[in-house]
Amino acid sequence: MKMPQIVLTGVLFFGTTGTWAAGMDARQEVSLPATLKTHMLHSMRDHLLALHEILDALARDDSDEAARIAESRLGMSSMALHGANKAAPYMPPAMRKTGMGLHHAASRFALAVQEEDPRKTYKALSQITASCIACHAQFKLR
Ligand code: HEC
Repeated sequence: MKMPQIVLTGVLFFGTTGTWAAGMDARQEVSLPATLKTHMLHSMRDHLLALHEILDALARDDSDEAARIAESRLGMSSMALHGANKAAPYMPPAMRKTGMGLHHAASRFALAVQEEDPRKTYKALSQITASCIACHAQFKLR
């Protein structure tokens, strides 16, 4: 259970702090056709909006709404919405894996939040944000 956290901390420390200190950008460039890039960035902005709406639902104690947003906008059910199958062939395997990790984490959150246990809820939520961070630390679009 501790291992992934240690690995992620390493990625963040060396990926973010390391490149910042050196004034360099070591992220791998991924080339997407223009329309797919526009679409992917659009869905990224919706990812952030969905996170915000999840937090807002949690603040209102509305776990059903938090689950619905997580599953439909970030979870396994959201993959068709994001056109994931169109962009996936252009992504390096590690990026695809991190993307799938996000969808799985969001679907797990949708189940966890309905247990009404704050610790489980926030742990599952932080596994969603960990996927966002891991991918952003490693990849950029061209
Ligand atoms: C599989 C990889 C991956 C995952 C997972 C991921 N992103 Fe991104 N995201 C990217 C890439 C690549 C970019 C473009 C970064 C660049 O080119 O500098 C990006 C850009 C963004 C942007 C900027 C959009 C714009 O208009 O420029 C936002 C906001 C964002 N992501 C939010 C999120 C959030 C929130 C999550 C998690 C819920 C998330 N992303 C998960 C890969 C990912």
